[in-house]
Amino acid sequence: MNIDHILAFDDDAAGPRALAHALGSRLAWVDRHRFPDGEVKLRLPPALDGTVVIWRGLQQPDAKLVELMIAAPAARELGARTLVLVCPYLAYMRQDAAFVPGEAVSQRHVGRFLAGLFDRVVTIDPHLHRTPSLGAIMPGRLGVVLSAAGLLGAHAARAVADPLLLGPDAESAPWVASAAAAGAAAIGAAWPLEHACCVKQRDGDHQVRVTLPPGLALRGRAVVLIDDVASTGRTLAAAAAQCHAQGALSVDVAVTHALFVGNALEALDRAGVRHVWSTDAIPHASNAISIVPLVADALRGG
Ligand code: R5P
Repeated sequence: MNIDHILAFDDDAAGPRALAHALGSRLAWVDRHRFPDGEVKLRLPPALDGTVVIWRGLQQPDAKLVELMIAAPAARELGARTLVLVCPYLAYMRQDAAFVPGEAVSQRHVGRFLAGLFDRVVTIDPHLHRTPSLGAIMPGRLGVVLSAAGLLGAHAARAVADPLLLGPDAESAPWVASAAAAGAAAIGAAWPLEHACCVKQRDGDHQVRVTLPPGLALRGRAVVLIDDVASTGRTLAAAAAQCHAQGALSVDVAVTHALFVGNALEALDRAGVRHVWSTDAIPHASNAISIVPLVADALRGG
């Protein structure tokens, strides 16, 4: 697919800049003015044509959803024929069921909202543990799901000798397995890196219990905890504490989405985590791995 324009916002500039460079596309900015009453005014490039990508990751999502609600139809009015959302972090995916009667299933509603605005949505490791595909929540639109698991596995394999990859919950098993296979390929190993998954129980926003897989020998092992998203960091901190209690030599963390809200990094530090690596799907000081080549390949491939 030929991308004619990439539109970006100034608070998330590095990714779209690198993507425009990789694809040879024109990069332009969506200017924002915040009125005293909290409303936002957007200004887009006045002459658009062809295929237009809007790059908007949905970390701290609420104001950005309103921006997209305005920017997408405006881009079409200004000439965009096909509109693609590159949304490295797709928010609201974890509320995928009504756990208590009356709870809104945000995943479904946010998915439908975006499907109504864009022809195609490209995202990385959305939290679809109980949902078969992005198509299930974006009916009639093309949802392209990319995974950073391979990038995380390769990074772990190169950074740590003989790592044990550990996912914090059972739902992440296939994702962790693909990281282990990519890790082996990155260092020319014949077999996937050793990997396993814990069992997690969440008792509240900051209360998480993690149980290690039974019989897993951790004494002297270099553990790399991998996860799609770290928010409060409590899941990873609980897993790290368990690993150290079982005699792990080191515990590092590799995540796709570095939300790391509040004192998340402190919690990891207290739990004895050595390195924190993340992809640049969300701009963060821990970024060590770029997802831009993944996105560029997906867009080139149409
Ligand atoms: C949940 O299933 C995800 O994979 C993450 O483990 C979870 O969202 C992390 O949240 P927190 O960092 O707040 O524990």
